[in-house]
Amino acid sequence: MTTPPSSPSAAALTSRLRAAGCVFAEDEARLLLSVPQSDADLEAMIAQRVAGFPLEAILGWVVFCGLRIGVGPGVFVPRQRTEFLVREAARLSRPGAVVLDLGSGTGALGVALGSMVDGIELHSTDIDTPAVACTRRNTEPLGGRVYQGDLFAPLPPELRGRIDIMLANVPYVPTDAIDLLPPEARDHEPLVTLDGGLDGLEVLRRVAAEATDWLAPGGSLLIEIGDKQRAAATDAVTAGGLTARVVDSEEFYATVVIAQKSPRPVVEAREIA
Ligand SMILES: C[S@@+](CC[C@H](N)C(=O)[O-])C[C@H]1O[C@@H](n2cnc3c(N)ncnc32)[C@H](O)[C@@H]1O
Repeated sequence: MTTPPSSPSAAALTSRLRAAGCVFAEDEARLLLSVPQSDADLEAMIAQRVAGFPLEAILGWVVFCGLRIGVGPGVFVPRQRTEFLVREAARLSRPGAVVLDLGSGTGALGVALGSMVDGIELHSTDIDTPAVACTRRNTEPLGGRVYQGDLFAPLPPELRGRIDIMLANVPYVPTDAIDLLPPEARDHEPLVTLDGGLDGLEVLRRVAAEATDWLAPGGSLLIEIGDKQRAAATDAVTAGGLTARVVDSEEFYATVVIAQKSPRPVVEAREIA
């Protein structure tokens, strides 16, 4: 007969996680031990973590903007740096704003913005089935609507020209750089969540090309990028007919392009005879 494993102490678990390469081993040990569960289930979770699965996927949640957000298997884990994009979006939002979260993953960005701005009308889209299911679980209880498909394709036509705030943390890692990502991302997050094509900006360019049609006059599009992508990303956004500025945060180690649609319809200059 085998004896069921007994709970390790925090110190023993920290050493085990550290030996497996977990940088924040002490914090992770505390989180794993805080989950009420049997010793056998705890051991299974530890074994997954030691094998390299992202902690948040094992726990089933992540803390984002101070909120506990559900994370499903195979869904991109929201990064802390993306809190900067949400905070910038909150500064630009008014109560009741119509918000679109493009490439929503867990849906964390929309949920977090909804906790900062009263009464938003939240719409989210993603192409990946596990992400859509996860966004549904996290946003539908709050009144969010969720669509599955390629970028704007699944949106109801009546949203065209009505979106005040568009959140777009879409894939922006250049294909060649995927191999350099930490194993948690490289081995456990689907390629569709990470791969931004040759220069990382292929999805962003498609977003920028179509955003103007969907934004309300004066509406804003916020896109997270890598520090070295600012010039090419700004070009892509202005080519789509929006004005653009780039903001950075040292605290979050994040860079965001904020693009805006003109508040008034553009009137073409007429030649005066
Ligand atoms: C980097 S992850 C970010 C997820 C979420 N926005 C966040 O910050 O946690 C990018 C997301 O975009 C989705 N995605 C990639 N290409 C897409 C496309 N063409 N149309 C819709 N969603 C897409 C992926 O499935 C993934 O969930």
